[in-house]
Amino acid sequence: MEIIIQPNPGVATSLAARLLGKTIREKPEAVLGLATGGTMEALYRELVAAKLDWSGVTTFNLDEYVGLPPDHPQSYHHFMRENLFRHVNVPPGRINIPDGQAANIPGECEAYEGKLFAVGGIDVQLLGIGTDGHIGFNEQTSSLASRTRIKTLTPQTRKDNARFFGSEAQVPHHVITMGIGTILESRHCVMLAFGAGKAKAIALAVEGPITSMNPASALQLHPKVTVFMDEAAAANLTLKDYYRWVYDQKPDWQKI
Ligand code: F6R
Repeated sequence: MEIIIQPNPGVATSLAARLLGKTIREKPEAVLGLATGGTMEALYRELVAAKLDWSGVTTFNLDEYVGLPPDHPQSYHHFMRENLFRHVNVPPGRINIPDGQAANIPGECEAYEGKLFAVGGIDVQLLGIGTDGHIGFNEQTSSLASRTRIKTLTPQTRKDNARFFGSEAQVPHHVITMGIGTILESRHCVMLAFGAGKAKAIALAVEGPITSMNPASALQLHPKVTVFMDEAAAANLTLKDYYRWVYDQKPDWQKI
């Protein structure tokens, strides 16, 4: 796992945007796994500003709230449209987001996995991390082999996301999310974590045991993970200095 600690979220986000931009330029037909949430907003702004050609890109979002229509202001369909899709030339037919209103949720999840398989999997999967260590909406004790399915949000996640809805009562209880097994099949996982609120989850994910009590710790099993964080999110890492040293020693050909 590569740990990249930057002085603030802005610098870390720019580096992550550069990595994504490079992916799209080098592989115009790239399949990108996308995330939503506060952490991603600045990243999408940078990607839009980079004026990349998205005409060959295919996207798969990690998750969607069950029951929210695509035009609901807090749906992830809406988030993606407002923050990215309406600003870039990704063909609508290549955008994939789970349908939170599907009448047959298990069928929708299976079909989503089928679509992922049909395009040959994800080249780069973007991830945020929950304060409880969730990735996608794989909450604590999610199976590390899980596939796309319905999940029930924890009270902590509903509390964390209440800031977007106005009140906790309005946060849906259920989501459709790619599983941890699904995420681990991506060829490269890129996680972003900013702020002191993420410090505990990050320390456990990077340096703790692999456990479903911190779903992000499953990333330790993945051969190619890059984690961008600010100083505040890095605060509890015991090997901080080593990660900084490794980053400073990177050979030119490995630099982002
Ligand atoms: C969203 C997602 C979640 C968020 C996580 C962090 O698609 O999959 O795992 O990435 O909850 O959210 P923020 O960035 O709002 O702190």
